[in-house]
Amino acid sequence: MATTQEEITRTSDEESTEPSLTAPPQPGRPSGDPGAGLLPRYELETLALHAGAIADPTTGAMLTPIYQTTTYRQEAVGRDKGFTYSRSGNPTVSALERRLAALEGAEFCTCYATGLAATTALCLALLRSGDRVVCSQAVYGGTVRLFREVLARFGVEAEFVDTASELALADSLAKPTRFVFIETPANPTLKLTDIYLAARLAHRAEALLVVDNTLLTPALQRPFELGADIVLHSTTKFIEGHNATVGGALITRDAELQEQLAFARNAIGAIQSPFPAWLTLQGVKTLPLRMARHSENALHLARFLMAHERVTKVVYPGLESFPQFELMQRQQSAGGALIAFEVKGGVEAGIRLMNSVRLCALAENLGASETIITHPASMTHADVPRSQREAAGITDGLVRLSVGLENPSDLIGDLVQALKS
Ligand SMILES: Cc1ncc(COP(=O)(O)O)c(C=O)c1O
Repeated sequence: MATTQEEITRTSDEESTEPSLTAPPQPGRPSGDPGAGLLPRYELETLALHAGAIADPTTGAMLTPIYQTTTYRQEAVGRDKGFTYSRSGNPTVSALERRLAALEGAEFCTCYATGLAATTALCLALLRSGDRVVCSQAVYGGTVRLFREVLARFGVEAEFVDTASELALADSLAKPTRFVFIETPANPTLKLTDIYLAARLAHRAEALLVVDNTLLTPALQRPFELGADIVLHSTTKFIEGHNATVGGALITRDAELQEQLAFARNAIGAIQSPFPAWLTLQGVKTLPLRMARHSENALHLARFLMAHERVTKVVYPGLESFPQFELMQRQQSAGGALIAFEVKGGVEAGIRLMNSVRLCALAENLGASETIITHPASMTHADVPRSQREAAGITDGLVRLSVGLENPSDLIGDLVQALKS
């Protein structure tokens, strides 16, 4: 049965009529190779369009087909073409996996039904009762809920620490730790963790480093080049980018880790379905372009908010006033799409603003082409205990803006009228 990326991708390639750009990443290739297969290093824009694609072997249709099938005919007992049952692998999903691995500069990827399904599979693959995890204090609320309310019942301990602080992270690693889970920038405070430093500290303590790269994507941040062992994505966000699917991915350069992840995914039945995988293959084609424009628009809006008399605080990593601006320049290639801010009049004024926008959508998501405004305390982070929210700086008045691809002057117009409310 095909459970590893190698087996899955080998078969797809045998069926492929495409040349080597679409060849599977080769296990054991030197790290740093963007995973484009047997050939030259292609740039990110090229990989986003081509890596992993398989033209339809019978018609030549350019787009990877949606292999909407549960099962696969076998040639003889014990002889299959690498796919046996779509819970363990599916050619459309494999094409997406090859593309995401290539974009992150890694060899292996497994895709999941949601981002949280990916986090769950990660934990079930790597943890056992009595194990301990160190996690950034400010992370997506669903990640906190999974550790606190589900995995704790199975004897897994998660310690939430300020991973931006070298001292706090080093201290927390004094006890045996299976992995460090960081989100940088953190959702929604946008506090950064130094990935290179976190990797060194984690590895010194014999722990793995897992980086949730959802907020920046490989277009703006390259965790493997800084020492990460596993990269996680909610592909629901910028990777797919169009508010059309939910999905997740775990990417690694380590064949053994990949095997463990693929085993867990099959065992718990968390794989992505072919249609969302196909939509994600289309969405990700424009990822580098979108991330550049998201960042440009966000910088524009952050500067506008900074100058507005009713705005009391603006956090945006691309602003020179951002407290970790130097780290941002070292670790990211742009500021990203997210802005956190507070307005005069506290929580009530913030809520009035969010209820008054017309073009921005008041919604729970981020990372879409459309601009989304969110109240983390009552929406995305409502399940995080107040004490942890306060310690992480997620105040009740904090407004999160995921800046989209609209013309920024239209977005500013919308915020101007909403800030008058
Ligand atoms: C940074 C981050 N990681 C993971 C997730 C979970 O992803 P999903 O909603 O696809 O399950 C989210 C969701 O908002 C997120 O923002």
